[in-house]
Amino acid sequence: MNEHDSERIAGLLETDGMEEAESFDDADVIVLNTCCIRENADNKLYGQLGNLKKLKEERPDLQIAVGGCLAQKDRETIRERAPHVDVVFGTHNVGRATELLTEARANGPLTEILEESEAFPSALPVKRDANHAAWVTIQIGCDNSCAFCIVPAVRGKEISRPYGELVEEVRQLASNGVTEVTLLGQNVNSYGRDLTLKLRGSELPDDSELLVGRSWTQGRHTARPLFSDLLRSVSEIEGIRRVRYTSPHPKDLRVETMDVMGEVPEVCEHLHLPLQSGSDQILASMHRGYTANKYLAKIAAARQRIVDLAVTTDIIVGFPGESDDDFEKTLELAAAVQFDNAFTFIYSPRPGTEAADLVDQYVSQDVAAERMERLRQVIERSSLHSNQTRVGLHEEVIVEGRSKRDSAMLTGRTRHNRLVHFPAQNNIRAGSYAQVLVTGARTFNLNGELLEVTAPAKHKTRIPVASS
Ligand code: 5AD
Ligand code: SF4
Repeated sequence: MNEHDSERIAGLLETDGMEEAESFDDADVIVLNTCCIRENADNKLYGQLGNLKKLKEERPDLQIAVGGCLAQKDRETIRERAPHVDVVFGTHNVGRATELLTEARANGPLTEILEESEAFPSALPVKRDANHAAWVTIQIGCDNSCAFCIVPAVRGKEISRPYGELVEEVRQLASNGVTEVTLLGQNVNSYGRDLTLKLRGSELPDDSELLVGRSWTQGRHTARPLFSDLLRSVSEIEGIRRVRYTSPHPKDLRVETMDVMGEVPEVCEHLHLPLQSGSDQILASMHRGYTANKYLAKIAAARQRIVDLAVTTDIIVGFPGESDDDFEKTLELAAAVQFDNAFTFIYSPRPGTEAADLVDQYVSQDVAAERMERLRQVIERSSLHSNQTRVGLHEEVIVEGRSKRDSAMLTGRTRHNRLVHFPAQNNIRAGSYAQVLVTGARTFNLNGELLEVTAPAKHKTRIPVASS
């Protein structure tokens, strides 16, 4: 979500006539977009701002802005510790970045933090790293209250973007040559709950189809879950070949979503389902709303409905109160699921969250680090194993470009989101689809041979025009 906000900020600055600079030294404007979900984002930020102070002294015209959720949370501290910052803004007014810079240039340093969102980031201009793939924010905020998580405090309550607007945006993206979209939300399976709640039991307004889509409007008494409808509608759009989404919450993942994943060819067979812990006690104190068995049952149901499904997850180790026994349960569950991959994190207290107050139950750094290492081994074992099962198969990849390590190799992504390296003498444009034969497996990637390019990239490339 934060990276997507950065794409939007960069897009706004470009629309305003700016160009990307090579380094801080060349820049007239520097925007630091912060995220406070984990780790010491604050230490990093103040370190960066300390370095930038000298630059600002040398070049007083340089403008420095700090945005994102850390800026929102720590606005006063930033002002106190880094008076050389020109603009401080939050997550809800990303769209005002350029106006705020202009205002600050005229009137001096300013802070603008809104408590409610002005616009969905997707409604703003964008500067994407890849032209063939796009993120689409379907919902902002989160109505859950996981004890470790800062998101509800900084991103606010869940708000869904109107159905028709999303379908239209994806249609636009497709007409520009985008073939892969990733629907983004903190809890995608509850997409639309706020929209349909407003409509239940009342006369449907004329624009209800725009708001919640045709399927829901026609069958609303069955309380259709809107997310599965949305997956279908987006997949039907001409030119869209791959649809992904992140993240679903295990307690809200419904069979309708699994059915769409099983039935609709465009929806990739990849489920990223954050587990967080395998211990029922820890899950309860995290307020996750499911048990280890319920999680396993969801995975079993998904695997039953979706042929050749890849499953990845997020796991936190060292949540306050996590005993050896609790952690063993996480290891057991991870081994039972055989994840294709996982993002693993050591718990980091976020001031203001419920778990941050459980100081007397904090797990020591040493113990947490040791647990992390053991978990890493379990995850890497199943990753390698699942990669090995791909050897000998033909896989469709989207070409991403030349491999960073070896320029004779191209890199592509499979529908499971696995990375494949394969030799290619001729350049194949990023965004093209190709078939590869998988010839080898490692823990984090596959090796392969190119069989054929099945669909060359269609997106338009901007040719830089030098100004004279
Ligand atoms: N400490 C460690 N990991 C966290 N996450 C969220 N908050 C914290 C925290 N305080 C992880 C969760 C979530 C992912 C995006 O970040 O695993 O799923
Ligand atoms: Fe945070 Fe939980 Fe919401 Fe995810 S579902 S954003 S972990 S509060």
